[in-house]
Amino acid sequence: MKKYFINRREKLIATLPDGCVALLFSGVKKTMSNDLFYPFVVNKNFYYLTGINEDNCIYMLVKGESIFKELFFTEQRSKEKEKWIGERLKKEDIEEISGLSSVYSLNDFETVLSSYLNSNNAFGEIDAIYLDQDKSNPFDSLDKIYEKKIKNKYPNLFVRNIYNNIAKLRLIKDDFEIENIVKAISITKCGIYEMMKNSKKCNYEYEVEAYYDFVLKSNNTIPSFKTICASEINSTILHYEENNCEIKDDSLILCDLGSLVNNYASDISRTFPKTGKFSDLQKKLYNVVLNTNKACINLLKPGVSRNEYETLARDTLASGLLNLGIIKEKDEIDKYYYHSVGHMLGLDVHDIGKFDEFKEGMVVTCEPGIYIPELKIGIRIEDDILITKNGNVNLSRDIIKEICDIEELMNS
Ligand code: GLY
Ligand code: MN
Ligand code: MN
Repeated sequence: MKKYFINRREKLIATLPDGCVALLFSGVKKTMSNDLFYPFVVNKNFYYLTGINEDNCIYMLVKGESIFKELFFTEQRSKEKEKWIGERLKKEDIEEISGLSSVYSLNDFETVLSSYLNSNNAFGEIDAIYLDQDKSNPFDSLDKIYEKKIKNKYPNLFVRNIYNNIAKLRLIKDDFEIENIVKAISITKCGIYEMMKNSKKCNYEYEVEAYYDFVLKSNNTIPSFKTICASEINSTILHYEENNCEIKDDSLILCDLGSLVNNYASDISRTFPKTGKFSDLQKKLYNVVLNTNKACINLLKPGVSRNEYETLARDTLASGLLNLGIIKEKDEIDKYYYHSVGHMLGLDVHDIGKFDEFKEGMVVTCEPGIYIPELKIGIRIEDDILITKNGNVNLSRDIIKEICDIEELMNS
């Protein structure tokens, strides 16, 4: 496993100039109240480069001319703390996972950093420090705190942002990433099937959701985002998360859900009738979305632009609704379809990285939908697609989405 992390770091190092230090922080646990914490979520860029999933760690890279050194700092293990929260990774574990062998106590971090920022060493003059700054994160991250400290202590250093260098790498998935996404999808599949098989006997959205949660827990994992399990009007709200309403017998249930494997996410949507039988109108509308989902997947290959992808989704949904007489003009589609057809998928459900056209190795979702409040119907069908050299592979192709297959499974 460590070969992947080593390889990613090598690629990152090649993007950096000589004479710099880069620092990545794993993050800190956020306090809920007193001594209770929210579940720890590692900084994904840090994890991407190290494979380490622990709080209070720092990856440090020093790059000079034809020479570089990587160091890792982790919180000192404490027998007293271990009695409460268990063991932290040992030096050997960190090396085994990440391939990083220079592991130090976090207490030494500032001293070690200043030793490299002093120009009398083999790395020559360091004039820039790279921090991993997610501009979309409004909270005071460790990086921001360090930026202030560093600017005060080393006013002559340039402070730069390494975020986009890493985001660019994360756009193209390696085998390990694809393997994890595939595993996450297969757990999601089992969970969706349990929901489909049991929805008949459920009265509330959360009861259907519970069948998903049971499968995830049984696979020692958690949802990759808050599960959406929406019936009737709720299914027209894109990020409906309450899942607390009674489900009418003639309602469709829109489920948008995922799981996490080694921090890699799946993101799947399926829509099915509570009782296992689509009405005629539900069938017609469902097939508009299904045809769009299939047409859009068919389009995906290297070189296709994001714009072409979006346009095809909108046009296909519009012509489907025009045919059914639900809309009279093409542009009316904006009333019933108001999100984009896909996003990158990886360590983040809405994975980072800017792109204009698809390239081999990207994983993108394909998730057209229509949402018609007047009919209390929302339908979304979402698959996770790997772009390959000459086309694509639908990684979630095993999760049924044809009406006949869904009805058969639900009534078997
Ligand atoms: N589950 C959020 C999305 O599909 O983008
Ligand atoms: Mn989704
Ligand atoms: Mn999605």
